[in-house]
Amino acid sequence: LENGVGRTPPMGWNSWNTFGCNINEALIHQVVDAMAGNGMRDAGYQYVVIDDCWFNPNRDANGNLQGDPNRFPSGMKALGDYIHSKGLKFGIYQGPLAKTCAQYFNSWPGSTGSLGHEAQDARQFAAWGVDYLKYDWCSPTGTIDDQVRTFAIMRDALAAAGRPILYSINSNSVHAKTGPQRNWGDVANIWRTTEDITNAWDTGQANGYPMGIQNIINVTVPLAGYAGPGHFNDPDMMEVGRGGMTDTEMRTHFAMWAMMASPLIAGNDVRSMDAATRTILLNQNLIAIDQDTAGQQATQVSFDGTRRVLAKRLSNGDVAVALFNQGSATTTISTTATAIGKSGSSFTLRDAWSNATSTTAGGISASVPGHGAVVYRVSGGSTSSPSPGGTVTVVSAAS
Ligand code: DGJ
Repeated sequence: LENGVGRTPPMGWNSWNTFGCNINEALIHQVVDAMAGNGMRDAGYQYVVIDDCWFNPNRDANGNLQGDPNRFPSGMKALGDYIHSKGLKFGIYQGPLAKTCAQYFNSWPGSTGSLGHEAQDARQFAAWGVDYLKYDWCSPTGTIDDQVRTFAIMRDALAAAGRPILYSINSNSVHAKTGPQRNWGDVANIWRTTEDITNAWDTGQANGYPMGIQNIINVTVPLAGYAGPGHFNDPDMMEVGRGGMTDTEMRTHFAMWAMMASPLIAGNDVRSMDAATRTILLNQNLIAIDQDTAGQQATQVSFDGTRRVLAKRLSNGDVAVALFNQGSATTTISTTATAIGKSGSSFTLRDAWSNATSTTAGGISASVPGHGAVVYRVSGGSTSSPSPGGTVTVVSAAS
């Protein structure tokens, strides 16, 4: 979406994965303080997104949305002011239909979705200082055409409200996540590619609710052609630091999100991160790969069912390459400079985790543990245009 924001994938934090509906003003203040002090803000994590359940179940006498008076007693404008005062940006959640997901599915009271209130709500968000809207379709009914039309109403309402607001949409179960994926780049800055993520490497199911990390990667890799500045695939908020994976798996999760030019929205309790989590979320080499201004999502160079090689072309001509082992046993994964779109006689490889460099005449290879991913930034020589490596089929739009 060409609205001036989201030129690189958004980075930040979202309340849902850890806290669900258990959110309040004091908690959000603590999260904001933590992000300002623990290195996250300075590493680029800027959006603090308040997910479902922040609202009063009743609109006011004029039909305006209001924060829950018990849990956000100072109101949503004050919350945004606090977030801004710490150098961060304010994200909020809403649904395009009559009810939010929690109102539909979790017996949360009220019926305060934006249906019929789009312009009013967009103006309200702008007045509160909102910088990011997560707009979450929650109904088992509706067609993809309904969704396109409905999501576009809020897109246009936000534009009319006059404040740059990053627009994040989730089409949820209406739009089969493993079937044809619509390219939503004309509607939103980021759009979810799967059902909800869960805190596990693999749930044993290829699709459906919820999704493990491995299967989200499987679904999102083929959508590389949809990504670019202002419009990115969204494989969901991260589960790094939530305790459901090994350190190797968490590192791979983060590395693959960076390779896929995905939003880097932390979902852990950032008030109490352990050292391993902090090291992952603050990895500068991977953040730079994710945030590269070319906005390219990695394309698949090779895949034999276990060993997957992805390459992401970067704005300065470097290419990031991931050697990803989807199996459980350690294996050697190899590719070449030529295969990732590089030509020349000598290249430098910088390991994204160790930061160590090595040189090669063309071979790129590593021993990779099960569920691990070695990522190198490859520089030197020249880079072919427009994208490195093998071809990826981008399935046609559903509408
Ligand atoms: C479904 C979304 O996929 C989640 O990320 C979260 O926003 C919940 N809805 C909130 O109800």
